[in-house]
Amino acid sequence: MKFVKFSTCLLLLVLVTIPWTICQFIVGKPCPYPEKRPVIQNFDLDRYVDGKWYEILRYEQHFEIGCDCNFATYTKTPKNGIKVKNCCKRSRHAQTSCVEGSAYVSYPKAGPVEGKLNVTFSGPPDNSNYWILATDYENYSIVYSCKNISDEKSAEAAWLLSKQRTLNPIISDEANNLINNYFQRDEMRITRQDSNLCDHNQNHFHLN
Ligand SMILES: *[C@@H]1O[C@H](CO)[C@@H](O)[C@H](O)[C@H]1NC(C)=O
Ligand SMILES: *[C@@H]1O[C@H](CO)[C@@H](O)[C@H](O)[C@H]1NC(C)=O
Ligand SMILES: *[C@@H]1O[C@H](CO)[C@@H](O)[C@H](O)[C@H]1NC(C)=O
Repeated sequence: MKFVKFSTCLLLLVLVTIPWTICQFIVGKPCPYPEKRPVIQNFDLDRYVDGKWYEILRYEQHFEIGCDCNFATYTKTPKNGIKVKNCCKRSRHAQTSCVEGSAYVSYPKAGPVEGKLNVTFSGPPDNSNYWILATDYENYSIVYSCKNISDEKSAEAAWLLSKQRTLNPIISDEANNLINNYFQRDEMRITRQDSNLCDHNQNHFHLN
């Protein structure tokens, strides 16, 4: 298993035109069969989209490099859509900047409905790429995505999100157990959410 480090990522970005996968967490095996990862069942979208989700941990992603203070909001739109807004800050003096995307429940007619979403920031939402492995809707969510690159390689994404800026220790123990089961904890980056850096009380953010 190999992790492409941030510095390597940047260097490669400068040197060559690279495939999108290079700055992701590359695992030396294909994605597991879907049934080998639990996904939350009887998914309650209304409870999930309520409030703000703060990022606590992540595998580094090309679109999040250098980002701290990350949070996401999900807002239901007519016709079963979900407006996604992802915000973060790249340095102390930078403004919090956001990108907007859209999402749909991947298989809304399935019974029971699973916590799988198709999220896109450009192009059609034709990829079930946001799987909620576990959530209690009010405290934490563990989100996972995997894409096969070849027969021996895949790119994984994983996030621990929380509705609070810091997880209380009980929830944090529970979430860490799940993370230890599914992910490589020591390869996950801790997202800063402290008020020295972040502008969480501000309500208007710059849209990229
Ligand atoms: C990835 O490939 C493996 C092995 O061929 C397969 O079992 C798995 O379902 C594939 N996963 C995805 C998300 O395409
Ligand atoms: C989500 O993407 C999957 C393919 O991964 C597709 O089968 C499904 O129809 C999509 N769902 C929606 C609501 O577009
Ligand atoms: C969220 O965490 C709080 C504090 O531990 C707890 O009281 C509450 O029951 C939790 N919510 C859910 C839905 O488990």
